[in-house]
Amino acid sequence: MASHFFAFLLLCFSLLIQYSYVAGIISGRLEHTIAVSSLLPETICSTTEDFTDNNRLKLTHRHGPCSPIKNSKKPDHKQILAQDQSRVYSIQHRRHHSSTTTTIKIEPNKIHQSPLAGTKIPAYTGKSFSTANFIVTVGFGTPKRDLSLIFDTGSDVTWIQCQPCISSCYAQQEPIFEPTQSSTYSNVSCSESACSELDTSSCSGATCLYAVQYGDNSYTVGFFSKDTLTLSSSDILPGFFFGCGEKNRGLFGKAAGLLGLGRGSTSLISQSKTKYNGVFSYCLPSTSSSAGYLTFGGGAPANIKYTSMLTDSSMPTFYFLNLLSIRVAGIKLSISPTVFSNAGTLIDSGTVISRLPPAAYSSLRQAFKQKMGKYPTAPALSILDTCYDFSNYSTVSVPTVALEFAGGVVVDLDFSGILYVASLSQACLAFAGNSDAGDVGIFGNIQQHKLNVVYNVGKQVIGFGKGGCN
Ligand SMILES: *[C@@H]1O[C@H](CO)[C@@H](O)[C@H](O)[C@H]1NC(C)=O
Ligand SMILES: *[C@@H]1O[C@H](CO)[C@@H](O)[C@H](O)[C@H]1NC(C)=O
Repeated sequence: MASHFFAFLLLCFSLLIQYSYVAGIISGRLEHTIAVSSLLPETICSTTEDFTDNNRLKLTHRHGPCSPIKNSKKPDHKQILAQDQSRVYSIQHRRHHSSTTTTIKIEPNKIHQSPLAGTKIPAYTGKSFSTANFIVTVGFGTPKRDLSLIFDTGSDVTWIQCQPCISSCYAQQEPIFEPTQSSTYSNVSCSESACSELDTSSCSGATCLYAVQYGDNSYTVGFFSKDTLTLSSSDILPGFFFGCGEKNRGLFGKAAGLLGLGRGSTSLISQSKTKYNGVFSYCLPSTSSSAGYLTFGGGAPANIKYTSMLTDSSMPTFYFLNLLSIRVAGIKLSISPTVFSNAGTLIDSGTVISRLPPAAYSSLRQAFKQKMGKYPTAPALSILDTCYDFSNYSTVSVPTVALEFAGGVVVDLDFSGILYVASLSQACLAFAGNSDAGDVGIFGNIQQHKLNVVYNVGKQVIGFGKGGCN
């Protein structure tokens, strides 16, 4: 009898503890409920914002109705995820191999047509990463020519395809830039410090050559050049250094080149430091039928919370963050903080799916599965192993997922950053686990959807806020 009474007391006590424990750490919204019909892709661009008004550049998905690049072949979900994995492999490979400067080899005797005809790119260096998938349009030269470029916070060198494409250029939507038609264009000389700051460079006589090779064997080679870069009517950068690529190949779609927003000395951010103090912001749209923005310098949007921007000397291009924990439906997962600190976490606009250390991913997956128990499961999709079939539902509810960074910065992810919807019968948890506990974690672009993301290299902080775009 007495033992029953004690058992009862113990039960009451443990319920009390459990309740207060849970009540103490639950925060914010617990789930997203969404109409299943809204998960299907739209075919019409719905954006109405006039981006020219406020010095914002329009940022769109590379494939889709808002992209300035039309009729480019959209890869299927498996291809997108396989390309994403190859970008992640090359980022992680890069970290394990320290930085070196390489020289482009130029074969003698082939130089009579062009110094580039005989160039050989060094064997795989894995320094840069393609498949970034947002597009922004900027102007090169005088008079200005508008060119649509891949936007990439994971690369430093900005480059465009240039005439004459003696060796080869891939097909692009806009006319290929013609340096001889720009009154402000000049070649960079080998004696300029900008030339020696390149990771891969060479000299043809006194003229500086550059090369960038991406992890998937895409590459660009050409003259390192200087010309006026027009970001918007009030954002004009004379003497901007970029690659004028006469030999280019790879998965760049029909984009005219790439805008490098990394931290290295050749990036746009470093080159414009005196003008913008290393400040830029963007919002990545959640669907291909909406648009986001990219803007340089200026006032940050309201309600931004800042966390420290960290540096990893083996990957100087990348912006690192101090990720501390993950919350599912408001409850902090029990993951040792050393799981995150041992691996490190970088933020990348070019990686689609966020990558987590294996222990963190399995904890996230377990908590997510528990909340999603009522939905029938679906087969795995490439790197995504936790998928559901919503075909018999008109609305679905998924638990909220939030990432907590140092400084008390809790980033509540948009619904589109939680599920990757390949079809109504296959919607998958949009995270993947790394295979090795030492591999770097990545805050990818799906999880950044709709957030205002503010980079301040001068103050070494990165800020996040809600409601940046659709
Ligand atoms: C840049 O260098 C190339 C190769 O030497 C040359 O053909 C071209 O005329 C140069 N352009 C300018 C503007 O000097
Ligand atoms: C959807 O409902 C139909 C009819 O009740 C059933 O046959 C089918 O198995 C259901 N599909 C799933 C994925 O539950």
